[in-house]
Amino acid sequence: MNLSDVLNDPPRPHEGMVMGLTEAALTFIYENINDRCNTLETGCGLSTVVFALTGSRHTVIAPAPSEFEVTKSYCRDRGIPTDQIDFIAEPSQKVLPALESPPLDLVLIDGGHGFPTPYVDWFYTAGKLKKGGFLIVDDVWLWSCQILRDFLNEQPHWEFVAEHDRRTAIFRKIEDGSEWLEWTEQPLPARGGRIKWIEGQIVMDEPVTVGGMAAFKRGIEDLKRGNFKILADKISRRIFS
Ligand SMILES: C[S@@+](CC[C@H](N)C(=O)[O-])C[C@H]1O[C@@H](n2cnc3c(N)ncnc32)[C@H](O)[C@@H]1O
Repeated sequence: MNLSDVLNDPPRPHEGMVMGLTEAALTFIYENINDRCNTLETGCGLSTVVFALTGSRHTVIAPAPSEFEVTKSYCRDRGIPTDQIDFIAEPSQKVLPALESPPLDLVLIDGGHGFPTPYVDWFYTAGKLKKGGFLIVDDVWLWSCQILRDFLNEQPHWEFVAEHDRRTAIFRKIEDGSEWLEWTEQPLPARGGRIKWIEGQIVMDEPVTVGGMAAFKRGIEDLKRGNFKILADKISRRIFS
């Protein structure tokens, strides 16, 4: 069996559906991972079968024993070994904080997609990934995964490798430690809020702060002058318009 065979006859562990990674991302795994590698994924399915094909020492985490059964029997029927895979049938949020693992060559984040699961997955696997190892984040079209992708794109500890179908982003880890940094050392958080960190200084978001303060001062003037109707109109316009 090779990758094309699996793509032509994919497993259907998700209630009979194929919800697999993009072909490009699966090809990336197939071409960059081998039986000397250690890998981990959150979520299970087509990607798990491709990890099985590579022969890597693999950990798959998903709270879905039935998906594991479908995946294992798919592999069994086609002679693809799965002895080298640890199947952990729990939510990744529960498992990852205490998981012992060897240094990883590739991590795929494609498990729970609700806030904050992709970040939890990233936080607890980033330190396990080797320098030079690959991180794949799937479904960056969803807000939670998109924020993670945008963060990594700007963080010098990570090098952007590719994005496929506007859906799957691949990064290479360059340096350890980005998950432990304060916001002032993370370009996207430092720049993205109403309070920014620019050249070692806190800078308030000018338009909102100054505009808000000016409106507040005009409101005080209305109060002092007894312009209660004008003030009430202004407040209701701000609240309800
Ligand atoms: C989009 S599917 C994964 C597709 C898979 N990568 C493939 O190529 O077929 C999402 C997976 O996340 C799993 N999942 C849902 N919540 C999870 C959680 N909290 N931790 C880990 N996996 C979770 C589901 O059981 C499902 O296997």
